[in-house]
Amino acid sequence: MPRSRAIRIAPSILAADFARLGDAVRDVSAAGADLIHVDVMDGHFVPPITIGPAVVKAVRPFSPQPFDVHLMVTRPDDHLEAFIDAGADIVTVHAEVCPHLERTLRRIRSLGAKAGVSLNPHTPEDVLRYVLDAVDLVLVMSVNPGFGGQKFVPAVLPKIRAIRALLDAAGREDVAVEVDGGVNLETAPHIVAAGADMLVAGTAVFGQADWRAAISGLRGE
Ligand code: DX5
Ligand code: ZN
Repeated sequence: MPRSRAIRIAPSILAADFARLGDAVRDVSAAGADLIHVDVMDGHFVPPITIGPAVVKAVRPFSPQPFDVHLMVTRPDDHLEAFIDAGADIVTVHAEVCPHLERTLRRIRSLGAKAGVSLNPHTPEDVLRYVLDAVDLVLVMSVNPGFGGQKFVPAVLPKIRAIRALLDAAGREDVAVEVDGGVNLETAPHIVAAGADMLVAGTAVFGQADWRAAISGLRGE
């Protein structure tokens, strides 16, 4: 039986105007964003280089909402403290680059943030089974990370269902399942039906004229 969950929308500032990032963070929060999603890319794990802790610190005061920092970097352990000091509330690392995943997640928590694990589209969910006590959020990539504006990969829908089932079976209904990449009005209902409760949206929010309408639309209102 599908349960009704509150759907939270996390606009990705990767799609915002970098010359006016503080204003974008403030205005999208006022338009109903539940979190601010920050895509950190290092030029190794993914080709581009984007945002570092100095930028997170600079824009943090522009929003009362939690900052959801997605580390697409090859050596996340080296940067956890800097991002959390800068104001990250959730820090998500990629399982593909964490040989000691549980240790990394526990370190994020010990530094005062919530700990997320992200899985690329082809990474099986099994890795989660062994870190269930240490995780607060699972971020399912529904595109290959690196760029905004890509097409949703429908093959991840069964994985979202499997992750939700795995969490429920472990008594971890409280863990958020976040989906990132190609989320729009067409894909969002399928993603939510599969069990996700947090949607990242770059283009589908910042690429629209009315951010408030875009956010409510994604939430299914
Ligand atoms: C992709 C990033 C996403 C991206 C989403 O590597 O992790 O957060 O900004 O962009 P859209 O919503 O445009 O697919
Ligand atoms: Zn992201």
